[in-house]
Amino acid sequence: MATKLSVNINKIATLRNARGGNIPNLLTFALDCERYGAQGITVHPRPDERHVRYKDVEDLKPLLTTEFNVEGNPKEKKFMDLVMKIKPAQVTLVPDALGQITSNHGWNTVTHKDYLKDIISQFKDAGIRTSIFVDADIKMLEGAKETNTDRIELYTESYAKQYPSNKEKAIHPFIIAANKALQLNLGINAGHDLNLQNLHYFSKHIPGLEEVSIGHALISDAIYFGIENAIQLYLRQLKNS
Ligand code: PXP
Repeated sequence: MATKLSVNINKIATLRNARGGNIPNLLTFALDCERYGAQGITVHPRPDERHVRYKDVEDLKPLLTTEFNVEGNPKEKKFMDLVMKIKPAQVTLVPDALGQITSNHGWNTVTHKDYLKDIISQFKDAGIRTSIFVDADIKMLEGAKETNTDRIELYTESYAKQYPSNKEKAIHPFIIAANKALQLNLGINAGHDLNLQNLHYFSKHIPGLEEVSIGHALISDAIYFGIENAIQLYLRQLKNS
């Protein structure tokens, strides 16, 4: 099974917002990512709209031809309303707090089981596939299963941090978690701090990895290589798994 690459385009919106105009054009950029081989586009609108805005998400939906993945915290009513309105292919639920620089923890699926179960049933009734952001922790995966989510997204920051010093140790909990997810019949996505150095090793060792969403490193690499080359480089890391 080939792992899909979903490009997170938040950083492009951040760049655009720095000047208040429409350069770079987020919609054109997303379509170009698709043209250059990305198999999905990810956005993460946050309440302060410091990068992707709610209106951007609405504008992107009718234009995209690959999988549209919208991430966010369902505790924000505006996020819930947006997702239910545009009905992307996938919603990824992330428990980030207001003003957080980036997502920095997965759900506690045990504590929030009933809440997640309720929200997930609303999304699934609307025909939207669900994924919940979790740490590579067996208890959290067992909890995730009880929420009826379709997939989990493994939070890979700890892998990325440890990869340069000890990649075997870094990947170990993720292999265990992935095997557990497969046993529970949960689809597996992954993301956060994946890059050209650590992606191949991750995808090679994680069984059943369906999708990675990558933003910061890929967009940074595009500054040097161009977005077309950057996407090709990332796809190559996944292809040789
Ligand atoms: N997955 C989730 C839930 C995220 O919040 C982010 C960052 O917005 C990513 C994946 C992508 O992380 P990165 O920008 O480090 O590639």
